[in-house]
Order: sequence, then structure tokens, then C-alpha cells
Amino acid sequence: MKRHLVFGAMLTVTLTLAGCGSVDPALVQRPAGVAAFEGDPVELAAAGEELWNDTSLGTAGVSCASCHLGGAQFKESFKQPYPHRVAMAKSMSDLESINGEQMVQFCMIVPMKGEPLAWDSQELAALTAYVEIEQGNFAAK
Ligand code: HEC
Repeated sequence: MKRHLVFGAMLTVTLTLAGCGSVDPALVQRPAGVAAFEGDPVELAAAGEELWNDTSLGTAGVSCASCHLGGAQFKESFKQPYPHRVAMAKSMSDLESINGEQMVQFCMIVPMKGEPLAWDSQELAALTAYVEIEQGNFAAK
């Protein structure tokens, strides 16, 4: 029994490190009837840029910018308008396509090791607005 537990824990660690873990697709699905926070797009993008650099957002001690500075870690798929296919979302949640806010939630859960943001929060709207700016910069490269 104890051996199984140890083996199970090791397997989980191995799968997580290999990036082969799974994420319940329901965690990155906007719940029916919950509207997104609406605000001034310029203010949202500015707030989003701050969050993008915030290392306390998740529990991994890193910020979005730690991985994505200057467009790092984005693949060619990022140049396509949303929704589109993202390899990580396909391999971990079997999602054929994903949109910007879902991708924010995905990275909150997986690399940031945090909780998904509330679907009606200013934070989610802000980070999603800022991701659009990053997307524009990346597409222009
Ligand atoms: C530890 C590294 C890491 C951190 C931290 C991280 N990401 Fe990512 N992110 C990735 C990787 C790797 C991919 C590429 C997935 C793919 O294309 O398969 C990715 C993909 C993305 C994409 C999708 C690109 C596309 O093709 O549509 C977005 C948007 C994104 N991240 C936003 C964020 C946000 C917002 C945060 C902070 C909340 C964040 N990421 C934190 C590693 C990270």
C-alpha cells in the first residue's frame, strides 16, 4: 500500500516534469452565465502589464515575463488570431483550440502553479488585454 503511494507520487512528479500531466479542461472553460469584467481597454492593458511582471501571482515564484520576456516560449501559433490550437493545451487537456483568456488560465495553473483567476475578475480581463498586446508585438517580429 505504502509502496503504491510512493510510486504514485513519483509518477506524478515525473509526468509533471515531462509536461505530460493533464489539466481538467473544465478549469479553463468560462462558466455559463459568468460575464467577463469590462473596463477601459487602455487601463486594463496597463494593469495587465503589471500582473505580467508579478511573481506573486502563482506559487512557482515566477512571473509570466520570466518565461515570455521578449516573446520567448511562444510558438508560431501565437501569431494566429484566437481561438487557435496550442500544443500545450492539446497535449494536457486535449483541447483542439483555445482562446486568449483560457490561455492565461492555463499558464496560471500549469507553469505558474497557481489557481485560475476568477472569471469575472479585473485581473483576468487585464492579463487577457495585455496578452493581446504581446500577441501584436510577436506577430510583428
Ligand atoms: C515556466 C514558463 C511559463 C510561465 C511562467 C508562463 N508561461 Fe505562458 N507558456 C509557456 C509555454 C511553454 C507556452 C507554449 C505552449 C505551446 O505553444 O505549446 C506558453 C504559452 C502561452 C500562451 C499561448 C501562446 C499561443 O500560441 O497562443 C499565452 C497567451 C501565455 N503562455 C500566457 C502566459 C501568461 C499570461 C502567464 C502568466 C500568468 C504565463 N504565460 C506564464 C510557459 C510559461
